[in-house]
Amino acid sequence: MAHEKTLGRIIALPKYDDPRGNLTVADGQGGIPFPIARTYWITDVPGGESRGAHAHRQCREILVAVSGSFCITLDNGERRETYHLKRPWEALLVETGVWRTLEDFSSGAVCLVLASLPFDEDDYIRQYDDYLQYLKENHTK
Ligand code: TYD
Repeated sequence: MAHEKTLGRIIALPKYDDPRGNLTVADGQGGIPFPIARTYWITDVPGGESRGAHAHRQCREILVAVSGSFCITLDNGERRETYHLKRPWEALLVETGVWRTLEDFSSGAVCLVLASLPFDEDDYIRQYDDYLQYLKENHTK
């Protein structure tokens, strides 16, 4: 059976353990594969809520649970993979054209996102039917 490429890629960021507290770095030397154009973070997610549920046409993103934990499910229209992010030095790379849903946020969880492009609503595909149509048109499965 052919080995199927994973939908996401975990990048181990450089981490400097210190008795005063630990420090993690995200930059080009540390394995971020694109220049970071934008950073945002998601906080105060009520229990049972989910975020995401969209794909991007061009934007690439790195997600990190800098505090607490959450699950992210990636979907390419054919198969799904769920990652449980729970360590501040573990970064998940999500490439363009992959549908993602974030859920199961722990209390106090902080999801940091590093994005390859500035915010652009036109870059979003927010309806799953539109996503399936996008896949058909782009043959990106
Ligand atoms: P959205 O990306 O839909 O959140 P989620 O990751 O849960 O899907 O963004 C929610 C709102 O925030 C939406 O109205 C757009 C706005 N927003 C910005 O203005 N700039 C940004 O960089 C981001 C990520 C969102």
